[in-house]
Amino acid sequence: MGLWSKKSLDLLMREADGTGEAVTLKRTLGALNLTLLGIGAIIGAGIFVLTGTAAAQYAGPAIVLSFVLAGLGCLFAGLCYAEFASMIPIAGSAYTYGYATLGELVAWIIGWDLILEYLFAASTVAVGWSGYFTAFMRDYVGVDMPAALTTAPFAVQGTHTLVRTGAIINLPAMLLIGLLTTLLVIGISESAKLNNIIVFVKVTIVFLVIGFGFMYVTPSNWTPFIPENTGTFGQFGFSGIVRGSAVIFFAYIGFDAVSTAAQEAKNPQRDLPIGILGSLAICTVLYILMALVMTGLANYTELNVPNPVYVAIAKAGPALSWLKMLVALGAIAGLASVVLVMLLGQPRIFYAMSKDGLLPALFGKVHPKYQTPWVSTIITGCVAAVVAGMFPIGLLGELVSIGTLLAFVIVSAGVLVLRYRSPNLHRPFRTPMVPVVPVLAILICGYMMSSLPLDTWLRLLIWLALGLVIYFGYGKANSKVGRAEAGR
Ligand code: ALA
Repeated sequence: MGLWSKKSLDLLMREADGTGEAVTLKRTLGALNLTLLGIGAIIGAGIFVLTGTAAAQYAGPAIVLSFVLAGLGCLFAGLCYAEFASMIPIAGSAYTYGYATLGELVAWIIGWDLILEYLFAASTVAVGWSGYFTAFMRDYVGVDMPAALTTAPFAVQGTHTLVRTGAIINLPAMLLIGLLTTLLVIGISESAKLNNIIVFVKVTIVFLVIGFGFMYVTPSNWTPFIPENTGTFGQFGFSGIVRGSAVIFFAYIGFDAVSTAAQEAKNPQRDLPIGILGSLAICTVLYILMALVMTGLANYTELNVPNPVYVAIAKAGPALSWLKMLVALGAIAGLASVVLVMLLGQPRIFYAMSKDGLLPALFGKVHPKYQTPWVSTIITGCVAAVVAGMFPIGLLGELVSIGTLLAFVIVSAGVLVLRYRSPNLHRPFRTPMVPVVPVLAILICGYMMSSLPLDTWLRLLIWLALGLVIYFGYGKANSKVGRAEAGR
C-alpha cells in the first residue's frame, strides 16, 4: 500500500515555505546565480576530456552532430525538469517530483539512482581533475608527482574484471573533494560566490579557444565530416554519431543540479526554469562550437588523449602557445567547479529523503550557524573521496551516464503522468507540446541508454537492487507519508 503513497502538492508547498521547520535552508540564489550554478556543473570533464576520445574512436568531426543529438535529448528532458522545478520548488530534484507523481517506491528508486549521478559524478570529475592537475604541476611548476599517489589502484580489464594497477591511491582527487566539502559545510552563498568566479574563468577560456582557435583551423580536417563506418556498429558513420552522443552525454550532465538548490532560490518558480534551460542552452552552443574548433585544428585521429583541448590548441603552433597554459588552468578550475556543484546537489537530495523518513534523521541535520545540511555534506564528501581515490574514470563515467539517463526518463514520464492525472494544477512553467516533448525525451534518452555496454547495465541493476534492500529494510517502515496514511 505505502509503496504507491504520494506526497500531496499542498504538503510539498508547505515544506517549501519552511513552515514548521526550526532551521531551514537559506534563500540567497537568484536567476543569474542559478544559471551560473548550472554552467558550473555542466562544463567539465565531458568537454575537456571525453570529446577527443569520442571523436577519435566513434564519430570523427561528426562529433559535432553527436553533441546536437545529445543536446536535443537534454533539451527535451530539461523542459520536463523545468515544469516540475517551477511547480514543486523544493530541494530534492527528481526525487521529489517522483514522490508527488509516481509514488514512494519510484521516488526512492529515483533518489537512490541520483546518488549515481551526483556523488559518483563528483568522484568521476575529481579523477579527471587529478589528471590535469598532475600534468600542470609537472609541465609548469616542475613538480613530478609519483603515479602511485595520483592514479587509481584499480583498473577495469576487459569489461568487468577489476585488477590492481600497482598504484596506491589517487590522492589529488581525494584532497580536492575534502577541500570542497569543507567549503560547502561553511555556506552555500560563499560556495556560490566562488562558483561564479570559476565559471567566469572557465567560460572565458572556452570563448578564447573558440575565438582564437577558429582563426587557425585547417578546413581539410573536417573532410570527410562523417567518416565511413568501419563495418562495426558504433565505429563512425551514423551509428558512430549515436554511440558518440551516448559518450559525450556526460558533458551535459549538471543542468538538473540547479533543481537541487530549489530551496535556496529566492524566486524558484520563475528562476529555476531560467537556470535550467539557460545554462543548458548556453553550454549546447559552446559545445558545438568547441567541437568544431577542436576537430578543425587537429585531425580527429589525433585527439584520443586525456587532454584533447590542449593538444588541439598546440596544433596552431607558437601563435597560440600562450593559450595552452590558460587551457590547463581553465580545465583545473572548471573541473573543480563541477565537483563543487555535484557535492552541493547530493546532500540536498539526502536532506529531502531524510525529511521524508526514508533515510535516518541524521541526513537531514541543518547546521545551526551555517544553515547547511552539514552531516549529509560530510557523509557525501567522505564516500565520494574514497570512490575517487580508488576507481578509474571510465568505469565511473559510464555509471554516472546510465544513472542520469534513467532519472531523465523517469522525470519525463512523470510530467506525462501528472498532466493526465492532474491537468488543472498551477504550473508556472509548462513543458511545451505535451505529449510530444516528454515522449521524445524518453525515446532519445532511452536510445542513448541502450547503446551503453551490458556491464554498465548490470552495475545499474545491482545498485538498484541494493537500494531496494535498504528501502524495504528501513525506509518503508519509517516513511512519514506512509505512517500518516496508516494512522488515518
Ligand atoms: N557535465 C559534467 C562534466 O562534463 C559532469 O564534467
